Order: sequence, then structure tokens, then C-alpha cells
Amino acid sequence: MSIVDELRALEVEALGAIGSVSDLPALEDVRIAFLGKKGSLTAVLRGLGSLPADERPAVGKVSNEVREALERALEARKEELAGAAMADRFIAEAVDVTLPGRLRLPGKRHLINQTVDDIVKVFLGLGYKIAEGPEAELDYYNFTALNHPPEHPARAATDTFYLRDLSGDTAAIEGESDVLLRTHTSPVQVRVMERQQPPIYVLAPGKVYRRDVADPSHLPQFTQIEGLVVDEGITFGDLKGTLEHFVREIFGPDRKVRLRPHFFPFTEPSAEVDVSCGMCGGSGCRSCSGEGWLEVLGSGMVDPNVFGYVGIDPERYTGFAFGVGAERVAALKYGIPDLRLFVDGDMRFLRQF
Ligand code: PHE
Repeated sequence: MSIVDELRALEVEALGAIGSVSDLPALEDVRIAFLGKKGSLTAVLRGLGSLPADERPAVGKVSNEVREALERALEARKEELAGAAMADRFIAEAVDVTLPGRLRLPGKRHLINQTVDDIVKVFLGLGYKIAEGPEAELDYYNFTALNHPPEHPARAATDTFYLRDLSGDTAAIEGESDVLLRTHTSPVQVRVMERQQPPIYVLAPGKVYRRDVADPSHLPQFTQIEGLVVDEGITFGDLKGTLEHFVREIFGPDRKVRLRPHFFPFTEPSAEVDVSCGMCGGSGCRSCSGEGWLEVLGSGMVDPNVFGYVGIDPERYTGFAFGVGAERVAALKYGIPDLRLFVDGDMRFLRQF
């Protein structure tokens, strides 16, 4: 076989090999086998030197053609294989945009906390400060200093959760009564007045506990927001104006406020406060039991006897206090028929707010 035939045969063989590899490493192997230092084409070209001088140009030309043809074929195949590799990756890493998304439920504040926040905001805007007291409270703060006589029915173990029994050995604390779960936020009034002389403008939100069975209008644990103002010249008119402002801010400008005479041991006079029904506008409907009004809070002028317990001069100062139920407010505002929905943890209910 002449050297030119040999070159042409190598070309055919190499082009075949280039065409049949299926990945880039195999293609590189083919390049080395033909064009590498020890490659077959390189070996043939080395033999050129021993050819007679007149044959060299023709053979040199063919061998250049073959080398160029192989280099072009290698380059083309390389591009092809790289493209195919990319296409494979696109398929492997493809995102199916038609798949349904994953549902993520962002957390948010419970409706009761939202309601407390809303109420707190109204009073912070009036310059009130936030006060706190313990949920496990002494009988003294929950009842005695709030002017409850020893035989007051609210003190009964059927109404109040007691944490310690006075008749047992563990209750041997001089001068203090039982420890109980506070039945209202009013003991915070006493704690504030004990520490601080007027002027006092405080709001005390917190959990309270009563020995009730949960039903549509009762929960054994609920949330109150206590307000207390003590200053010179505070009148019942200030109480009424403050409550009217509160009701309009929380329920909207169209709601009316009604004060009904009531009794609390620690306020005198006392009033329960009703808001005109949002469903019927006051004419009477099912949600207000035909009354046209819904009760939202208890209030009154601080009883001078309470001032006596905390060392505030009742000749110089007067004050008012009120206690709002957050669950009540939320129920009235959003038309919720059963307070148990607030504590059942049913997402279908909670997600709506
Ligand atoms: N503590 C009373 C209750 O829980 C409400 C109240 C607070 C009344 C302050 C008067 C003044 O029913």
C-alpha cells in the first residue's frame, strides 16, 4: 500500500471512530489514538522524511488534508457531544412548572391577641402605661384589698381556683391568705397603687381564671384588660368619655354606649357598659337577644376603701377603673357565636382572622 493510500485508510478509520463515540472522554481517546504523540497519523508523518524528495510535496499535502479533516471532524463532534450533554442536563434538571405549589401557612397572631393589641393601642394613644401582675395571685390582692368581705360569694372554692389550701401545712404564711388563680385583672390595680402615687394612668391586660364549665358564653380561662386612672379631679364624666372613645375606636363610629348601674365591691358607683348591637343597629335582633345592646365591660369610680388599703388620700384623689373581656369584644366585633372557638385550635376558624 502506498503511503497516500495508508493516509486515506487512516482518515476513513479515524472518521468512523469519531462518529461512533458517545461522550467527550471517548472522543479525547480517539484524538490521542490518531493525532497524539504516539498516534497512528503522527507515526505515518514521521516516515515522511525517508521518502524520495520528489514524492514528499504530494504526500505532505495529503497528510495535511487528512490532519485538517480529522481536526475539523473532532471539533464538530465535540460540539455535538457537548450540546447533547447540555440537553441531557436540561432534561434531568427540568422544573415542572405545572406541578401544584406547596401550601405554606404563615403564622400570625391569635384573634384574641390581635384584639388585646388593638385595645392597648387605643389607650397608649391616650398616654396610659402598661402594667402587669401575676396570674397566681394572693387572695389579698384578688379580693381583700379590693374590698370583698370575707363571705363574698366570688371567694367560694366553687368559683375560684385555689392553688393552696389555708387549712393545710403549706399555707403557713403570716398575714397572707390563699394563693389562687386571679379571677380578674383588678388585683393589678392594687399592685400599681401600692407602688405608685397618682397621677396613675395604666392598662393591664392578662389572663384570668374562673371555675366555669366552657360553654358558648363562658371559658374557664379568658382575657381581661384592666384600666385604672387616679388623679386629682377625676369624675364619672371622665370615665364615660373614656369608654365612649374606646368603644368607637374598637367597634366603629356608629356604635352607641350605654351605662347601666351595677355593683362591684371595689368601685362606687359602678356601671356595666353596653354597646349598641352591630347586627341590628339597636332595634333588637337574635344576636342581642332582642335587646339592641350587648354588654362589654364593668367599670366604676374607685371605692375610697380601696384607696385605704394602698395609702392613697381619698380626700385629694379620685379615680375610675374598668375591666374589658377581650373574648367578648372579639365575639361582638366579628360576630362569633361561641367563645370556645377561640380555644379549640380549629385552623378553619383561626385562619379567617
Ligand atoms: N373586675 C371586674 C370583673 O371581672 C370588672 C371591673 C373592673 C369592674 C374594674 C369595675 C372596675 O367583672
